[in-house]
Amino acid sequence: MNLAEPDLTSVAAERLPALLRQMPKAELHIHIEGSLEPEMIFALARRNGVQLPYASVEELRRAYAFTNLQSFLDIYYAGASVLLTEQDFYDMAQAYLQKAVQDNVAHAELFFDPQTHTARGVSMETVIGGLHRACTDAAGGLGIDASLILCFLRHLSEEEAFETLEQALPFRDKFIGVGLDSGEVGNPPEKFARVFARCRELGFHLVAHAGEEGPAAYIWTALDVLKVERIDHGVQAIQDAALMARLARDRIALTVCPLSNLKLCVFPDLASHNLRQLLDAGLAATVNSDDPAYFGGYLNDNFTQTFAAGRLHAGHAYRLARNSFEASFIDDAAKRRHIDRLDATFEAFR
Ligand code: HPA
Ligand code: ZN
Repeated sequence: MNLAEPDLTSVAAERLPALLRQMPKAELHIHIEGSLEPEMIFALARRNGVQLPYASVEELRRAYAFTNLQSFLDIYYAGASVLLTEQDFYDMAQAYLQKAVQDNVAHAELFFDPQTHTARGVSMETVIGGLHRACTDAAGGLGIDASLILCFLRHLSEEEAFETLEQALPFRDKFIGVGLDSGEVGNPPEKFARVFARCRELGFHLVAHAGEEGPAAYIWTALDVLKVERIDHGVQAIQDAALMARLARDRIALTVCPLSNLKLCVFPDLASHNLRQLLDAGLAATVNSDDPAYFGGYLNDNFTQTFAAGRLHAGHAYRLARNSFEASFIDDAAKRRHIDRLDATFEAFR
């Protein structure tokens, strides 16, 4: 891997948006159910005969005025209720992957929430089968490499997480890791200590949402009790200097989601976001879209809007893209290929 960073001082500020859009990147924090656009929610509701509590696409969009994580989750789980067949899951993932290709996403690791679906009588085979088929087809047809990470819903019990794992194990070759999402405060990582230990024994990659709305203490226990390899969000790490030092020392990646943080009122505006502080402190931060259909933008929107809010330059753009490949769960040869392409893109912008 090329360890030298390209000279980035000569990239003119007005060329930065084009560079942000064109640079190859990985997306490591995208809930595939959060890519369901209102138009697709209504199309699937019609296809499946599901009654929605909203009269129109416009009325649904108007409900996207969130005040915190829970206010979003209520609508997000309602939106996912239109997903019933293997083809529905395929169509949802394929639509996201097509958009990701346009944003020059070369590799994506997609979260999915099986408990949202199995609780409604949809089988694990239907969920994983449709999502995995879309990933496989995209590798051949769209030229984007994608894999799946199964998330446990942390507002449910650890026993239910174990049941979900059992249901998923017949399909273990179709997902690469497990994560932890849903309402954070009051549901600390250590609630899932045993199921994560089991997943670790089984050889899965481990990640967890921590320090989005919850305290820095949850990031410590995600690392030390769950033994996760990346922290999803993690922006509250800034509250704890010892934690910042640990994250920097161990190169634990944070999958930061600026537009999500803005829409869920974690920061009052993008200019107040702490992404630059995290990067400048030596943390392996990345930029991601989280739930792009709900938060007003896909990956390139997250990059361009965050950089437009100021205080970040081409050197940060390079770091973010490079971190995204280095923190991904692909092999070293694939990382090198992506980073070589990244370097070539920056060369062309000098
Ligand atoms: N946090 C927790 N759970 C989620 C999120 C998030 O940002 N998006 C979808 N489920
Ligand atoms: Zn998330």
